Amino acid sequence: MSDLKEILVNKKNCKSIWFMRQAGRYLPEFRKIRLQNKDFIKLCLDSELSSEITLQPIKRFNLDSAIIFSDILMVPYALGQKVEFIKHMGPKLKEFNFNHFKNNNKKSFTQKLQPVYQAISKTRNKLCKEKSLIAFVGAPWTLLIYMLDLKLDKEKIDYQKIKLKREEIILILNKLNEYLFIHIENQINAGADVVQIFDSWAGLIRPEDFVNYCIEPNFKLVNLCKKKNIPVICFPRGIGRNYKKFNDVVRPNGLNIDYEVDPKWAKKNLKNVVIQGGLDPKILLNSEKDIMSSAKKYLDTFQDLPYVFNLGHGLLPSTDPDKVKKLIKFYRNY
Ligand code: CP3
Repeated sequence: MSDLKEILVNKKNCKSIWFMRQAGRYLPEFRKIRLQNKDFIKLCLDSELSSEITLQPIKRFNLDSAIIFSDILMVPYALGQKVEFIKHMGPKLKEFNFNHFKNNNKKSFTQKLQPVYQAISKTRNKLCKEKSLIAFVGAPWTLLIYMLDLKLDKEKIDYQKIKLKREEIILILNKLNEYLFIHIENQINAGADVVQIFDSWAGLIRPEDFVNYCIEPNFKLVNLCKKKNIPVICFPRGIGRNYKKFNDVVRPNGLNIDYEVDPKWAKKNLKNVVIQGGLDPKILLNSEKDIMSSAKKYLDTFQDLPYVFNLGHGLLPSTDPDKVKKLIKFYRNY
């Protein structure tokens, strides 16, 4: 048995495999579509194409789960903040306007994201029933980083701004959570089987803010999914030893570890949760021998536990799809 949903719910000693960013730029069939669709947000709002892209890695590799082709930044987009993707620069959002943000309404939010929900329904209809369809959201803190343009460089943010605007930040995080509730509910109603919450920049939160900015918002989102009887996986990337505290308090069904987490430490400290991922996506740029021996380390460690094979962050655009195929074969033969 390899159905992700089953493993997350029953926590049986089974394995499953999918990859973060499995639908993306390393696939020539994706790049072909992308070349004809210069506006990334518009592409995410084309339910036919989004569904097709979602199924590309399933057709090519027969992975156990599909993750809907969309983006965490569809939420700021639907809240009226223009989002652009500039080549080699990443996402760029129009300047944040607090009054505009506050004046959003739930109906028009849902309306704007309707194509995402249609893509989920279409994909669920096409996907065989043994495979889970994963929907996702970005956690409020991670969305905030992009919405307020707080990034200084790749791994640094303007924390001074956060300290100065503490009250406003709490208001924004709470408001975002309200809209994420709606987005999660709508995705579940459209047919999603599992939800993953990406908190990609959780590792940048200072210790004194960790509970308010990471634990609290994730806890609320996890509880919503539980109430809806939908298993939920969290990915609070970069939080180190705080993975234990996160797991003990937030209690998600699944927890994706990043590549800085030692799998042996995770096995010992992360209890009553299905561990997912860990393998450094950069390893996939190395030799086959390297790839397999690194993958083996995770499979050996978690062999007597339920485990979802995945990465410690998303697949890199320069990954060779053939190496992905070989890795999957290695996993299947293990
Ligand atoms: O295959 C999948 O995983 C499903 C689709 C998916 C995308 N983005 C498509 C995408 C998912 C799950 C995401 C999540 C996402 N988006 C996160 C959280 C995970 C993470 O990587 O930390 C974040 C932070 C974003 C925001 C975002 N979107 C960035 C920073 C970028 C540009 C650089 C990059 O990492 O690719 C995007 C664009 C984006 N989202 C692309 C894809 C396939 C590339 C678009 C292109 O230029 O063709």
